[in-house]
Amino acid sequence: MRNMKDQAKPHGRRSEEEQLEKIKTCVFPSSVEATKALAQEVLALLREKEKDSKPLVLGLATGSTPVPFYRELIRLHREESVSFKNMITFNLDEYYPISRDHRESYYQFMQNQLFKHIDIPADNVHIPDGSMGREQVFADCQAYEEAIEKAGGIDLQVLGIGNTGHIGFNEPGSSCDSVTRLITLDRITRQDAARDFLGLENVPSFALTMGVGTILRARRIVLMAWGEKKAAIVARAVEGPVSDVVSASFLQEHPHASFYIDEAAASELSRKKFPWLAGSVSWTPSLSRCAVNWLSTRLEKPVLKLVDEDYNENGLSELVTEQGPAYTLNIRIFNEIQHTITGWPGGKPEADDSNRPERALPYPKKVAVFSPEPFADVFAMGGTINRLVSQGHDVHLIYQASGNLGVPDGEVEKFLRVLQDIAGPNSKDWEKQREFADHLLRMLKGKTQTEPDSQPIREIKGLLRREEAREAALVLGIVPTRIYFQDLLFYEKGRYRQFRPEPADVDKIVKLLVDLQPHQIYLTGKVADPSSVEYNCFRVLELALELLKKEDWLGKCSFWLYRVHEKELEPHKIDMAVPLSPDQLSLKMRAIHQHQSQSTQVLISEDRNREMARLYDHFGLAEYEAIEVFQRWRLFQ
Ligand code: GLP
Repeated sequence: MRNMKDQAKPHGRRSEEEQLEKIKTCVFPSSVEATKALAQEVLALLREKEKDSKPLVLGLATGSTPVPFYRELIRLHREESVSFKNMITFNLDEYYPISRDHRESYYQFMQNQLFKHIDIPADNVHIPDGSMGREQVFADCQAYEEAIEKAGGIDLQVLGIGNTGHIGFNEPGSSCDSVTRLITLDRITRQDAARDFLGLENVPSFALTMGVGTILRARRIVLMAWGEKKAAIVARAVEGPVSDVVSASFLQEHPHASFYIDEAAASELSRKKFPWLAGSVSWTPSLSRCAVNWLSTRLEKPVLKLVDEDYNENGLSELVTEQGPAYTLNIRIFNEIQHTITGWPGGKPEADDSNRPERALPYPKKVAVFSPEPFADVFAMGGTINRLVSQGHDVHLIYQASGNLGVPDGEVEKFLRVLQDIAGPNSKDWEKQREFADHLLRMLKGKTQTEPDSQPIREIKGLLRREEAREAALVLGIVPTRIYFQDLLFYEKGRYRQFRPEPADVDKIVKLLVDLQPHQIYLTGKVADPSSVEYNCFRVLELALELLKKEDWLGKCSFWLYRVHEKELEPHKIDMAVPLSPDQLSLKMRAIHQHQSQSTQVLISEDRNREMARLYDHFGLAEYEAIEVFQRWRLFQ
């Protein structure tokens, strides 16, 4: 391996705010722009190589992250006649053991996501083989390394990043000179894959992966990351120490490595989180609030007790000079935070609303709560839904995707066994039901891991989620006639990590919105990974709203974003905080517990809401039991 430290980094001059970053990090508005830029780079390399009559050797990755990049390559092939005949590829990794026809094998993933749509010759494609016998693994891994070398080494290696900070499957502990080998998968990595494999027990325990050393030998490396879920690990890799605890941090040692990330994945970088530490900033209201919250947390002091020295000694002298003294600034920010708190999420009728998050009129409001799947709504805003109902608003719950992919087989089995028990072995009246249950149980037992669930099983899974949703809504005071199951097609036709919006879904949501004409809309998914269910539901709704933007009623509608799978809103982004009393929190928990098929996520909600209340208390506001929070969303801005 060449000595990378001796080579000058091609980063050029960094802006002041990028100086804490040890890897060149390009932040794009979204994954679309980022993957277009990467595809153009591939194209340029391909042309350059063609001039020298050499093939381009590309290292490829799997997972949700590279999906938009592969879509762009396919588009280039189809629409701009780009040929990939002159490309050789090496994939990073593969589960072990796994057969090549397993629907979750990376072999299948690559065929479906890229290879079968472009003109790359089959012989040019290399993916570690997860089906070989254990005795052959070592030799095969060595052969993989040799094949890379024989092809002339990797020109450009594309990477994603796992939640443990791994690249390929180089779990924590992988050394910087590791080579292609068999590795035991980390517990977190297996949990992340459990949904794809329909249960943790089905996830292979091992994987074959190129080593960190293999990856570092590539001449150019681009790591992509999208969505808030990746923000924390991206920041550790880019700004933290080089360590085998986060294998992506080894990329700091590479002279031509870059991160291509979207705004959401950049949100934990210092330049976004505390830009004032890196240099001069322009103090917007939101940034000022962010800085004061940060200082209050850092010094463990309520906002109103911060003094000028606190600002001066913690890199915020510019802020206190511009907007101080501390006393004035503290009061302003304290009031801002206080004005986010409301027990009237639908607006308080007959009250002065100049300092309230939601307008008083019209009253009552027609409220539409959009939930990507059943559960998200109750999880994030069960208390708020109950408030809205009890304050007389007309609340409608809209479940965009059925959620049938997220139901463990055990739940269906339980349901079918109850059906069998009701039918009894001999009852004539229930003969049909018994046969149906017997048939589906056989189907369930005979399921192979190479196929998705059959349609009848998926339907039952969907029905179970509907029932859970109805029960949960009833606890919160919403009757079934106010519930809409949209069963969006992108979800029914797609699969995890590969969803994309369907035009028919947009039409469906347009129709629903026109029928409802709500005054207030709650939604989520804006900062989620672009291939996730949440983001696609958000996007479908956004596209529908764009089509309706001339409608008068829409101009008067207010929008509130909530978070589910992403990290909770940072305090300075909160525009509405709805406190819950202990009784309201237990009611919400009772609603959440109706979602039996989602039991693993139940407790997180309670912790989150209590944690938020502690934070408000810490800032020096009233001490509540729990708080649900929302961010205002201004349409088309
Ligand atoms: C797996 C793959 C990695 C990938 C990671 C992240 O562990 N072996 O190569 O980067 O998942 O996956 P995703 O892009 O779906 O977040």
